[in-house]
Amino acid sequence: MKKYLVAYFSRTGNTRAVAEAVHEALEQPKALLPLEKAADLEGYKVVFIGFPVQSHSVPFAVETFLKKIPAGRKIALFSTHGSLPGDRLSREAVEHAVILAGRARVLGTFTCRGKVSLQALEVLKRSPEHEAWADMAASASTHPDASDLEDARAFSRWIATLAAQDHP
Ligand SMILES: Cc1cc2nc3c(=O)[nH]c(=O)nc-3n(C[C@H](O)[C@H](O)[C@H](O)COP(=O)(O)O)c2cc1C
Repeated sequence: MKKYLVAYFSRTGNTRAVAEAVHEALEQPKALLPLEKAADLEGYKVVFIGFPVQSHSVPFAVETFLKKIPAGRKIALFSTHGSLPGDRLSREAVEHAVILAGRARVLGTFTCRGKVSLQALEVLKRSPEHEAWADMAASASTHPDASDLEDARAFSRWIATLAAQDHP
């Protein structure tokens, strides 16, 4: 039986780096795939799904993917975000993802910061309502860092442990 699938959506590579860490910590058999290549979830014991928070929410492609997850499938969600850890809006994006995957069994969630592209920061800084956010988000420039990736590996191992204890 195929055991683990790590599917990710990533525009600038942050979520992909976290996905690679999540994947690395899992036992074989396992697969790491960009979301668009992860259409068939049949046979996987646990599916990890990663995405960047965008406009305080879940990217549309991820939303569509989450809504299609078969009922009862065990999943775990992870995200990267530019805002400070614990920020209400980015936390709500993950909570929203859990709701979108409503028919699945969500074993856990993980989030960490991810640097915001310089291009996006430039655009945000030009509008007064986003300027303060852009200044705050600039401090994410070193993330995901080694500590974030170690936390992601620990999350991954924890989900594998939960899945092993949880039958069927
Ligand atoms: C268009 C756009 C919108 C974003 N919106 C948010 C947001 O609402 N909240 C937040 O915390 N980060 C936001 N970010 C930052 C991303 O979530 C963060 O940089 C993430 O790590 C990018 O992941 P990726 O490299 O996998 O694409 C946004 C970034 C972009 C480019």
